Amino acid sequence: MLKTYNCGELNKDHIGSQVTLAGWTDRRRDHGGLVFIDLRDREGIVQVVFNPQLARECHEIATELRNEYVIRISGEVAQRPTGTENPKLPTGDIEITAQKITILNPSKTPPFYINGEVEVEENLRLKYRYLDLRRPRLQQTMLLRHRVVKFIRDFFDARGFIEVETPILIKSTPEGARDYLVPSRVHAGKFYALPQSPQQLKQLLMVAGLEKYFQIAKCFRDEDTRADRQPEFTQVDLEMSFTEEADILQLMEEMIVVMVEKLKPEMRLIKPFPRLTYAEAMELYGSDKPDLRFSLEMRDLSDIAAQSDFSVFRSAIASGGKVKGICAPGCGNYSRSQLEELNKLAQSFGAGGLVTIALGNVSGNLDELTMTLVKSVVAKYLTLDQIKAMATRLNASMGDLLLLVAGKPRSVDTTLGSLRQDLGRRLALPDTNLLAFSFLVDFPLLERDEKTGQWQSVHHPFTMPVEEDIPLLDSAPGKVRSRSYDMICNGYEIGGGSLRIYTRKLQSKVFEILGYTDEEVEELFGHMLEAFDYGAPPHGGIALGLDRIIMLLAGAETIREVVAFPKSQSAIDLTLNAPSSVTEKQLTELHLKLRNE
Ligand code: AMO
Repeated sequence: MLKTYNCGELNKDHIGSQVTLAGWTDRRRDHGGLVFIDLRDREGIVQVVFNPQLARECHEIATELRNEYVIRISGEVAQRPTGTENPKLPTGDIEITAQKITILNPSKTPPFYINGEVEVEENLRLKYRYLDLRRPRLQQTMLLRHRVVKFIRDFFDARGFIEVETPILIKSTPEGARDYLVPSRVHAGKFYALPQSPQQLKQLLMVAGLEKYFQIAKCFRDEDTRADRQPEFTQVDLEMSFTEEADILQLMEEMIVVMVEKLKPEMRLIKPFPRLTYAEAMELYGSDKPDLRFSLEMRDLSDIAAQSDFSVFRSAIASGGKVKGICAPGCGNYSRSQLEELNKLAQSFGAGGLVTIALGNVSGNLDELTMTLVKSVVAKYLTLDQIKAMATRLNASMGDLLLLVAGKPRSVDTTLGSLRQDLGRRLALPDTNLLAFSFLVDFPLLERDEKTGQWQSVHHPFTMPVEEDIPLLDSAPGKVRSRSYDMICNGYEIGGGSLRIYTRKLQSKVFEILGYTDEEVEELFGHMLEAFDYGAPPHGGIALGLDRIIMLLAGAETIREVVAFPKSQSAIDLTLNAPSSVTEKQLTELHLKLRNE
């Protein structure tokens, strides 16, 4: 090795030792004839001193150093003079008295500071990701990612799971997104699809008798990017034979608990992970991925609202809708413009309008509430008793603000749910050290596509229906429950899975309801149906979004922060500049011709 130690590992115990170090010049300071260099490598920073009286040539070279020059130095570890120690630096008690220096490679001035937490425009960071990754925060994140993956591999290995790599060039496996396609050179006009997940392959591994499989699997989905979504991402994928829901949920909970306790002991968990039905989650939080770090539960106020003189409430309820509300604690003193902002927000989430009722502007007991303290444009349509009844149901006190939405049930739930999430953030309600994991269960198997009216899978077509609901597949498909589950944390969907269909008959039935013709089923899924004919065991599994888990553990805002080379918000690899054009020759070999549009 070109170095005998890492910069960050040196301390008082090394005083008097001769060391050789190599790394990057983090910063240079010239002081009273001496040159000081902060030398940085992956393990940290150490101060190097160049004294012209002790090593003149060496000092001369040091005066030429600029940030990010790659250097190698040899010298002696010395105690720093009293008063110059730096308690913020792990190596702050010592410095290296340089005797020899080699510039291994100079550096141009980087496009942004490596040695500080300054805000840098994201696309610039992505273009120079190799420089961005030099920054300590990203180095920490990459280290955390490595530790998480190693933990997961060890965890499953210890429980009898084996990791099997599944191919990347496969056939379309539906997970609800568009496929990335790869044209075949050998077979003109034919395409591979990149896996949206290894779903079918892991099921085939169960037919193959592997019984317990896992994989750190790359998945590809051509869908719009978001803070928690990348076109290319990584799943912790798992499948087991002879299993039931409880086994899988218990295993996942254990994995997360042990992982957090080992790798992020400063973070808190709610144990055991709460289990909510899909219906409960929609009813209380208006979301299928509720953030349980704060309560702000929604409540149905339709019975009270129906007694009021407010025609919007009454007509919404009369036409099959409902009125629901949440309580914004301590927001009774919101100004007109703050209320208008909330109203606009609610409309952006799809509400026709938002009704606000301020319960006075100072905190206190609800008994003290009088009509003169209430501020609301609908106050004249409500009695004090009705307002108090709503407030009591929403667990509100004086000084709080009630937010009410009326309309169709689904839209009321989702609007108020988004408002709840937003309010939680505005009011800084979530404890940032809490990882509020939960499981959502009892999903419906199918839902109607809003545009086409066609039935589609809520999870994916391989999901097992609840046995007693199977007869409903023909008569009332929307009522069939599935044996699936999601893992949620802090408002993010972390994972999803299910028990699987493992017979030709039931699987064919589900494909039929999803609108596939017999020919399409044969062409797309014939291999699965055939495999089920050869003794497929009952099986089930789950996949967790690895990037999302690491984002939460690292306290990052987006998954782009925890992926070494992520795509930009417009799905571009700015480091390599992909996607890019290809030559005419390549297109011809692939039997492709570009349309001039
Ligand atoms: P699902 O589609 O729910 O299930 O995906 C599992 C988990 O993967 C993560 N995820 C993503 N992360 C980043 N970017 C994306 N574009 C993205 N899409 C999904 C989420 C999600 O919960 N085959 C099934 C699993 C199974 O049934 O076993 C599947 O892929 O955290």
